[in-house]
Amino acid sequence: MSPLLEARDVVKEFRGPRTGFLGMKHATVHAVNGVSFTLDAGETLGVVGESGCGKSTLGRVIMRLLPATAGEVLLGGEDAAALEQADKKAYRSRVQMVFQDPYASLNPRMTVGEILAEPFLVHQGLKSRQSQAEVGELLRIVGLSPEHASRYPHEFSGGQRQRVGIARALAVEPELIVLDEPVSALDVSIQAGVVNLMQKLQDERGMAYFFIAHDLSVVRHISDRVAVMYLGRIVELGTRDRIYRDAHHPYTRALMSAVPIPDPTLERQRKRIILEGDVPSPIDPPSGCHFRTRCWKATEICAEEVPLLTGDADLAWACHHPIESPVKIGSSPVPA
Ligand SMILES: Nc1ncnc2c1ncn2[C@@H]1O[C@H](COP(=O)(O)OP(=O)(O)OP(=O)(O)O)[C@@H](O)[C@H]1O
Ligand SMILES: [Mg+2]
Repeated sequence: MSPLLEARDVVKEFRGPRTGFLGMKHATVHAVNGVSFTLDAGETLGVVGESGCGKSTLGRVIMRLLPATAGEVLLGGEDAAALEQADKKAYRSRVQMVFQDPYASLNPRMTVGEILAEPFLVHQGLKSRQSQAEVGELLRIVGLSPEHASRYPHEFSGGQRQRVGIARALAVEPELIVLDEPVSALDVSIQAGVVNLMQKLQDERGMAYFFIAHDLSVVRHISDRVAVMYLGRIVELGTRDRIYRDAHHPYTRALMSAVPIPDPTLERQRKRIILEGDVPSPIDPPSGCHFRTRCWKATEICAEEVPLLTGDADLAWACHHPIESPVKIGSSPVPA
């Protein structure tokens, strides 16, 4: 059986700033640079990586808010571009997106009831009275009350607004939800409630999540598998436990070393790997391995050959000098 979602060598380039003689040409921004992965029904793939590494762009390509420059996205084994072109509404009822800033993504002039009723009227052609009942039920499901339907987005707190955003995505009963940093804009104290709600909804309804986040603790909590991105590429991909305990890529090790350990004794022993410098520009990425300019293990081959993902379904890394020893809790993730 084909996976719910499959990305095959997806490339997304943007037109960058003017360059060249008299600014006659445009630079190319290599935002996503040949990404492949699969996502099964009901599964959560966490996507992590520093700012600018192409996470949101990849999410938008999957959602078909942006066309891919090259490569393919398949939904249920069928070409997503063709599906979306044939029937936009049908595609939107299968793949939905929840954004970081729930305020910017909700129309301020519509009541929450109107916002949530829209998908029913558009996709399912329900009469407005039926849709009112559906809206009340949706609000209840996300932990709000049916009375909230008459309020406007600005009358809600950030956490409540994000619940409205989730309810809107759920309305069409999608098979996949792309969540782009859904809790990063929220107060830490209310993040857990929203994450737990998303997990509960997934248990009940079985949709898959493509979950983009900066916060590695949140990703650990919610993901079945994790993809680590660096400058437009997936550098490591594996099950949650393998990624957190046994990552082979130096970049993943560096990211993981920044995660606090709840045990205070172990936390005191935690050694952070501080990466030198910034992520290079996606306009002019380094040759070979994109991470080599910041990697303490880099040698000549890293500048010459692009490392391909190797390993198996549990853990695959794209590195010429993988770190093979498992992470010992409380010790440095970098072996001496
Ligand atoms: N419409 C666009 N036009 C030109 N460049 C773009 C466009 N959208 C994104 N980019 C560039 O593509 C690269 C990847 O951006 P993207 O937003 O996907 O990163 P991200 O991983 O989501 O970052 P963050 O963690 O900050 O959200 C960045 O260099 C960004 O500046
Ligand atoms: Mg982003």
